[in-house]
Amino acid sequence: MEEHLTVGRVAELTGVTVRTLHHYDEIGLVQPSARTTAGYRAYSAGDVERLRGVLTYRRLGFGLREIADLVDDPATDAVTHLRRLRGLLLEQRDHAAAMVTAIDRELEARAMGIRTTPEEQLKVFGAQLYDTIGSAYPATRRTEPRIAARIWEALGDARTVLNVGAGTGSYEPPDRDVTAVEPSAVMRALRPAGAAPCVAATAENLPFEDHSFDAAMAFSTVHHWSDPIAGLREMRRVARRVVVFTYDAGGVAWRERFWLIRDYLPEFAEYFVGWPSLAELAGAIGARAEPVLVPWDCADGFFEAYWRRPEAYLDEHVRRAMSVWTRVGPEAEQRAVDELRDDLSSGRWAERNRDLVALEAAELGLRLLVA
Ligand SMILES: C[S@@+](CC[C@H](N)C(=O)[O-])C[C@H]1O[C@@H](n2cnc3c(N)ncnc32)[C@H](O)[C@@H]1O
Repeated sequence: MEEHLTVGRVAELTGVTVRTLHHYDEIGLVQPSARTTAGYRAYSAGDVERLRGVLTYRRLGFGLREIADLVDDPATDAVTHLRRLRGLLLEQRDHAAAMVTAIDRELEARAMGIRTTPEEQLKVFGAQLYDTIGSAYPATRRTEPRIAARIWEALGDARTVLNVGAGTGSYEPPDRDVTAVEPSAVMRALRPAGAAPCVAATAENLPFEDHSFDAAMAFSTVHHWSDPIAGLREMRRVARRVVVFTYDAGGVAWRERFWLIRDYLPEFAEYFVGWPSLAELAGAIGARAEPVLVPWDCADGFFEAYWRRPEAYLDEHVRRAMSVWTRVGPEAEQRAVDELRDDLSSGRWAERNRDLVALEAAELGLRLLVA
């Protein structure tokens, strides 16, 4: 007979009271499918799976009615549920990281005798990752002309272009009619004067009719979306052509490719466990994937940009313009930077990465998806 868990055991494992579990049963949210001989509720593997979903949505702040609609949706299978939950949890983690950063800033300001304004104190609740780190972005993030050329070529003859997760618009083609989409108010405010018009929205819900644009592009943003597959499908819906610059982060070899993750920041690779594979991302929009090598002197300071200039990662300004460091948190950041500094001065880094010095460009798992 299939193994069942008693209501008491489920309460113990989840930290939820028996009373709450009874309530979920009474309202039909999670009804255990069996009873023990003594008449106690008993949960099958299927019941537990449903309960896990309910409890996770609950922890994310959803109301019981909304949760019932979500878990009963016949169009959503178990894997899609898990992916959605994972994306939402990561979003919440980013949000918490953004709040910690904002509070740290306030503590620093207070230590210097500066009081934050009431408006600044409230802003912390709306803090999204890029609302907190965005102001550091323009210091090192700019157009890398060799990568821009690849994107613009892939856009073909598109006249109208939607740039999703546009940020400051570093890769917007100057000779087309561009509309930008960017959810972070800070990033929108950092767009240069004269930049393309920008709409406040997310990739997952693009506020445009089907086939509104000749092409839709997204640069280095898909890994921030709570539901990358839904976002890519939205791009496909609104545009005839889709061009996406992203990472093969779901690939097993990914963490081995870049010394910074492999040797100093393994926790960042964990971030992508369960992430859709590149084939799944490409499959969602029927795209082909082309490798994009990172030139040794890459002008855009994204995470992999300084692969042959390791000292750059010791610079706080360089790190602040990369979301990775906020995501892994200050402890991991400090440890990674200290270890890298030690290895650079002892010659260990140079010894380990001897092969890189002669390379003009490196294959670090960056890909252009073109559909
Ligand atoms: C690394 S930045 C890249 C910005 C820009 N594409 C560039 O290359 O400079 C990632 C951007 O994705 C945005 N973003 C985060 N979540 C998003 C979502 N769900 N939909 C669209 N954009 C999102 C962030 O606010 C941020 O501006």
